[in-house]
This record gives sequence, C-alpha cells and structure tokens, in this order.
Amino acid sequence: MEKIERINTQEDAIKLLNIALEHEWAVSFEYTIHAYSMPKAKFWYEDPVMKMKTDARAQTIQIGIDEMYHSLQLGIIITQMGGTPSFKTDEVMRFPKIMDNLKRDKMTEDMVTSLYQSAEFKEGAFPKIQNMILNISYDEVRHSDQFAAMMDAMKKEGAENALCFQSSPESTEKEEVQRLHEIMRMENELLHRYLKYVILFSEHQDLSQRLFKNSIDHMRHWDKNSGILIKMGDVVQVENAETDSEGVEKSLKPMPDLYPGDNRLSALETLIPAEEALTAKYEKLITLLKDSDIKEQLKLHLGQNREHIFTQEWLLQNARKIKGIE
Ligand SMILES: [Fe+2]
Ligand SMILES: [Fe+2]
Ligand SMILES: [Fe+2]
Repeated sequence: MEKIERINTQEDAIKLLNIALEHEWAVSFEYTIHAYSMPKAKFWYEDPVMKMKTDARAQTIQIGIDEMYHSLQLGIIITQMGGTPSFKTDEVMRFPKIMDNLKRDKMTEDMVTSLYQSAEFKEGAFPKIQNMILNISYDEVRHSDQFAAMMDAMKKEGAENALCFQSSPESTEKEEVQRLHEIMRMENELLHRYLKYVILFSEHQDLSQRLFKNSIDHMRHWDKNSGILIKMGDVVQVENAETDSEGVEKSLKPMPDLYPGDNRLSALETLIPAEEALTAKYEKLITLLKDSDIKEQLKLHLGQNREHIFTQEWLLQNARKIKGIE
C-alpha cells in the first residue's frame, strides 16, 4: 500500500481515496475468502465490542461486508470530486492455517488505520473527507480488536494449527464443482460491475438504488455458493492466485479491474447479456444435480437472476424512451 500523508490539493485527496479504495476492495475479498475457508460455528470468541460469544467465521463475513461499504463510500466521493475510482486491488492472500489468515487480517486493519489516521489535511481543506476517513478508520479499529480477540480465543483453545478447507483432486474433477467456480467468477464480476454503475450514477437515487439491489443479490449468491462448494468437498478459489511452496496463495487480480459501460445506455446495455449468460450457466448446472438442498438454493439464485433480466430489460427500454437522459 502506498502512503500519502500531506493532503493539500484536490488531486492529493483523490489519490488518498484511491489508495484506500484499492485496499478496501482487496480486504472485502480477503475476509470473505478467509471466512469461507473455515468451518461454520466451530471457532467462538468473546467479541470485545458486541460483548457476546460470537462465531469467528460469521463475524469475519460481517467485517468483509463493512469493507464493501467502505469501498462504495470511497468510490462515490471520488466520482463526486471528478476523479475515477480504481478497480485495481491490493494483494489478496490465503494461508493454509486459519490463524495465519487472522494474523494478516489484523495486520491489514492496522495498516489502513494508519493510512487514514496519519493523513494531514491542509487546514480547512476537505473537512467532510477528513471526517469520513476518520469515521471509517474507527470501523477499522473495531475490526482490528475483533480479529485480535478471535486469535486469542483460538490460542487458548490450542487451535493455532487448525487448517483451512482445501480442495481435493477428486472434488476439483467434478463437473458441478468446475461449473460452480465458473458461476462464482461471473457472480463476482457482476457484483462489482453493478457497483461500478452504482458509483457512476450515484447522483441519482433511482438508478443507483436499483442497481445496488442487484449487486447485493449477486454478493449473496457468491456468498451462498461459497458455502455450497464446501458441501461439494471443495473451497472458494482465490482467482488468479499463485501458490508458493508453503501453500500460500497470492493474487493481485481477484476480480477484473475494468468493467464495460460509461454512461446510462452503454452500462445498461452490457447488463442484459451478462445476466443472460449467468442464468444459462445456472440452468445447465441445475440439470446436473440430483434433488437436494443445494439444488433448491441454486434454483433460488437462478430465479433471482431471471428477475434481474426482467428489471434490466425495462430499465434499458425506459432509458431509451427519454430524450436527453444521461
Ligand atoms: Fe475498510
Ligand atoms: Fe476493516
Ligand atoms: Fe443477476
């Protein structure tokens, strides 16, 4: 992560926000991937903020969602300031041991807290931005405390060496597993593509809110599919990762960094074929599966994606009806 400490000009402010954004995109992945690589309701800790016994996996997912909201906030402000939000990301890593992932999670929290809290603004310049990054930084302080408590609890339980789920050669050979990974890449691409448009159209709540709903649906599908992969004997992938001799995976491109469409019509036009392609992938996968909870869950995702096609077709037709709309 680059660092910028003096914020004098608008350009400096946009630079700070984009450095932060590339971090926020990365950790929103990293935490959810770490969470979906560990067992559900197995590692409990006393949460220092909520003051209750909490499942480390569930809370790690919640923290990942907070990071997604941070990304959205930053992207919207960058756009309002006349900048272009970056969709590049910092490096995403996954270690074989759960504890090493948590250690990294706490480290990245402390690193970004320092980025946010050490930025010195020229007196009176960008007060709202200054306020926003301070507000975000205290979410990060909370996250860091939460990850620390998770690690303490695991140490006390003697679970320091507990391993993440790993995919086995038998599972990766299965056609349904391969198809589900392909679907997850598409869900992921779409969730971020929608977020790009949410940011792009953030000056108007109608389009922005509608697209945000679809983005959240795709995020949920991606999440649920990660759980399904475990049931299929596999685990969520870190896209475009290289694995070293210690089994540590690293990726600088967990998601595409470019998305098509840069105005209302061109953005809306790209979404229908993307939703149709995803829907076709679900239809094919579902025909391969026997009746099961997994199949029912995938059918629900399929149904919601069909709903998106309906909505998107009308958003596009309605946009075409109005002259001069941007
Ligand atoms: Fe964050
Ligand atoms: Fe955080
Ligand atoms: Fe969809």
